[in-house]
Amino acid sequence: MPREIITLQVGQCGNQIGSEFWKQLCLEHGINAKGYLEEYAIPGIDRKDVFFYQSDDDHYVPRALLLDLEPRVIDNIKTSDYSKIYNTENIFISPEGTGAGNNWANGYNQAENVSEAIFDMIDREADGSESLEGFLMTHSISGGTGSGMGSCLLERLNDRYPKKIIQTYSVFPDDASVVIQQYNSLLTLKRLISNVDSTVVLDNNALHRIAVEHLHLDQPTINQTNALVSTVMSASTTTLRYPGYMNNDLVGMLSSLIPTPKCHFLITGYTPLTIDRTTESVRKTSVLDVMRRLLQTQNIMVSAPTKKGKYISIFNIIQGDVDPTQIHNSLQRIREKRAATFIDWGPASIQVALTKKSPYVQTNHKVSGLMLANHTSVHHLFSNVLEQYDKMKKRGAFISNYTKESPDILNEFDDARQQLQDLVNEYVAAESSDYINYSIEREMLNNQQQQQQQQQKTNRY
Ligand code: GTP
Repeated sequence: MPREIITLQVGQCGNQIGSEFWKQLCLEHGINAKGYLEEYAIPGIDRKDVFFYQSDDDHYVPRALLLDLEPRVIDNIKTSDYSKIYNTENIFISPEGTGAGNNWANGYNQAENVSEAIFDMIDREADGSESLEGFLMTHSISGGTGSGMGSCLLERLNDRYPKKIIQTYSVFPDDASVVIQQYNSLLTLKRLISNVDSTVVLDNNALHRIAVEHLHLDQPTINQTNALVSTVMSASTTTLRYPGYMNNDLVGMLSSLIPTPKCHFLITGYTPLTIDRTTESVRKTSVLDVMRRLLQTQNIMVSAPTKKGKYISIFNIIQGDVDPTQIHNSLQRIREKRAATFIDWGPASIQVALTKKSPYVQTNHKVSGLMLANHTSVHHLFSNVLEQYDKMKKRGAFISNYTKESPDILNEFDDARQQLQDLVNEYVAAESSDYINYSIEREMLNNQQQQQQQQQKTNRY
């Protein structure tokens, strides 16, 4: 039985990276731009039904919703080569068409007004699946739509489908972004902390650095950066699309990566990286070479000092024609060399899944690998948001843009700040061997606070 996943692409960034993801999936599964199988496609070697369904005329349709508050990006998708693959009933563009003007509160409020229409689409798509595993959202955390509308949808998805997995691919802004984006990021991070099972962090600063340093592009375009994103997204879903004996579903994959529910922000690394995947190769790739490179800071797609923190868990997806004994031997070498520093309170193990490569996409390297890792240093990204937010808040900068939209948003900011600070503290605590005691104390404190709040409510009535 397929474990279907429904994708929600929200806002400009969400739709742009989403459409790159679908192009890549079509290529890997031998589906042409109109949604039909290519003549050369070999039946029975993959699972297309996790991400696509087949319409009555047998063409493959992404289980995807394209959502935006302004028409430009979705109009581009509608006129692109791959326009025919999407279900037009799953496209929502706000009739107002003004976008959210880089304002989380505006995106959130607009989403509240149209959420019934959007959930009609989501429910229809969910009813059309046999055994829905969950939802995947692509968005940026710092614009107005991906962040505000994304936040509203995440809260409601969690309420409506409490047993389904929610995973996001969330783009973090680069340093050149306008300052107001830190407000949006803070408010969105609160939802990513509370309403999501796992977030794959896509850091625009790091993507830009990798494009410049590794791919030798002077000024990477958004399409080139998005090619890196679609590489990561497609690689991280290969175990679902080419199942083996293990990690055939999201829940299995995430349970080994996320031992404590709050620390669910995953970083990624990929090697070898090319923009068009066929650039000439001077390397002789092997499993050991790939696994070693995945641990090197320069290959990690996040701008955080990974040398300083500790790994909570690592899951490597190795693709290629590889003898499984090579995996075992490589893991042993990595362990001997102590190439990764792990936390003291959990198993210091690297999980590895060996998966097939699509026979339809030619590459010049024999082995490639994606690392999904839970690493404590990700808290530096959050600390950065907190620092920038505090500076702006002190000056009261642009705050009226938000209070105009939602008069009581200041409480919302305070709560989001507190939750993000708690998350930073949790990651820092996870670096210490005393983390288990820290978690028990926090749990007790939370219970006490809840009891007090309950008591206060009862006293009031
Ligand atoms: P509004 O424009 O306010 O309606 O919201 P939005 O969510 O549509 O905005 P957008 O998605 O453009 O979010 C802005 C942030 O996303 C900025 O930090 C951009 O650098 C980043 N961004 C926008 N498009 C892309 C993209 O295609 N790829 C990547 N990697 N980042 C993007």
